[in-house]
Amino acid sequence: LAQQTTVTLGADQPAGQISKHIYGHFAEHLGRCIYDGFYVGENSKIPNTAGVRNDIVAALKNLSIPNLRWPGGCFADRYHWKDGIGPKDQRPSIVNTMWGGVTEDNSFGTHDFLNMCKLLGTEPYLAGNTGSGTVQELADWVQYVNFEGRSPMSDLRVKNGQEKPWNVKFWGVGNEAWGCGGSMTPEYYVGEYRKYATFMEGRNLYKIASGANGDDYHWTETLMKGIPLNLMDGIALHHYSVPNWDKKGPATGFTEQQYFDTMKSALRMEELITKHTAIMDKYDPKKKISLVVDEWGGWYDVEKGINPGFLYQQNTMRDAMIAGTTLNTFNNHSDRVKIANLAQCVNVLQAVILTSGEKMLLSPTYHVMEMYKVHQDATLIPVSVKTGDYVFGNEKLPSVSVSASKDAAGLTHISVVNINKNKAEEIQIDITGKTYKSVSGRILTAAKVDDHNTFENPEAIKPAVYKTAVLKDGKLNLKLPAFSVVVLELK
Ligand code: AHR
Repeated sequence: LAQQTTVTLGADQPAGQISKHIYGHFAEHLGRCIYDGFYVGENSKIPNTAGVRNDIVAALKNLSIPNLRWPGGCFADRYHWKDGIGPKDQRPSIVNTMWGGVTEDNSFGTHDFLNMCKLLGTEPYLAGNTGSGTVQELADWVQYVNFEGRSPMSDLRVKNGQEKPWNVKFWGVGNEAWGCGGSMTPEYYVGEYRKYATFMEGRNLYKIASGANGDDYHWTETLMKGIPLNLMDGIALHHYSVPNWDKKGPATGFTEQQYFDTMKSALRMEELITKHTAIMDKYDPKKKISLVVDEWGGWYDVEKGINPGFLYQQNTMRDAMIAGTTLNTFNNHSDRVKIANLAQCVNVLQAVILTSGEKMLLSPTYHVMEMYKVHQDATLIPVSVKTGDYVFGNEKLPSVSVSASKDAAGLTHISVVNINKNKAEEIQIDITGKTYKSVSGRILTAAKVDDHNTFENPEAIKPAVYKTAVLKDGKLNLKLPAFSVVVLELK
C-alpha cells in the first residue's frame, strides 16, 4: 500500500547558491584507495596516465567531482610530505601505523596527487599535519605547492620537475584533532590552530579547522569563540552513518533493524548541521565561515578475508539511500554547508568506485552522485515536506526527503528519496510561482535493499528512465517505489 507525502515548492522564491563543493570526495592512504586503487604505477598493464588508472579518471570526470581531499583522514597527521617528493627510488618507506600496518613506499606523493587533480579537473584539498608535524613543515608545504617566486621550497619544487605552482586553495589544519589527530582538547587545539594558521602564508588560502565528532557542540563553540574569524574559513564536521559502532554489521545481508538504524544515523545529519549552525550563527551571523562536512558516509564491517584496517566494504541500495538523503540535507543547508567530502572515493567505506585487478565497478552511490550533479552551483529552491512515516517496531522515520534547485540554463531539478524499505510513497508536489511545460526524470532502485553491483554483474543497478511523473495544473504527482531515488527535470 502506498503512503502519501505532500511537498510545496515556490519556484519563484530562489534562495542562495548550492556550492558545487558539497559534492566533494576523499582519498586517503588507506587500504586500496590510493595504491591498487587510483594508483597502479606507470608499469601496470592497466591503462594509466602517470600511474593513475584511466578508467577511474573517466568515471570521476563524469561526476564532475569539484574537489578531492588528501592524504587523510588519520593518515594526514602521520604524513610527512617531504617523504613523498623527489625521485621515487630515493623516497623512504614508512609504516602506515594507522591503517593496516602496511609499508608505505611514498611512491604517490604531492606531485602525483596534484597532477592527478589536474587530470580529474578537480580542486585539491590538502589536509595538513598538525599532530606529529611541525608548524614549519606545514608552512613549507604551502610554500612548496603555492609560491610563484624563488624560495628554498619553490626552488625544490622546480628541481623536482614542477615549474609553476599549483595554487592550492583548500587546506585542512589537522584532522580529528580530538582523536587520531592528537587527542587534543578543543581549548588546546584552538592554540595550536592559531599558530599553524598564522604561518600558513599565501594569497587566497581557505583554511579549515579540524571540527567536531558528531554532536560535540562544545568543540564548535570553543573554536568559534577562540579563533579569530580572519584566521579561518571553515570548521569541519565528521559524521558517519553507522548502525552501531560496537557492532556495525555487514555491508550486504543486513537485517531490517540494521537498515533502519543506519537510516536513523544518516538522517541525524539534519540535526547535527542545524545545531552546529546555530552555534556558528552566534559568532558569525554573516555566515563567513563554512561548515565543512569533510567526512560522511556509511561504515560497516570490513568484507571477509580483508585486512580489517583496509575498511573495504560493498555498496548497496542502503548506501544510495544514505547518499540521496544526505545530499538533500546539504543542499537544503547550503547557506552554511559549503564543502563536503564523501568517505571515501575508491575501495574504502562508502566508495563510488570499487576495483579488483583490471576490473572496476560503479556503485549505487556513484549513480546517486551522478544523478545529483545537476545541483552543483545551482540556485536552491526551498521546499517544505509533509512526509509519510517509515515505521519499524516502535520507532518511525520520515520516509521522504526532497531538495530542489534551478540551474544556470533555467532548468529546475528536484531530487526525491523514499527510504521506506517496505512501502511505495505517493507524492504530490504543489508548485507555485512558475508554470512548467514538461517533466522528465531518472530513477535508481532495485528488487532488494541490499542489491549491489558486482565485478561479474557491474550494471545490475543503474539509473533508468522514470516515467511515472504527471504534471498537471501546477501539481506534480509521483509514485516512488520503496528504497528509491528519483531526480526530475522540469522545463
Ligand atoms: O575515513 C576513515 C577515517 O575515519 C578517517 O581517516 C578519519 O578521519 C575518520 O575517523
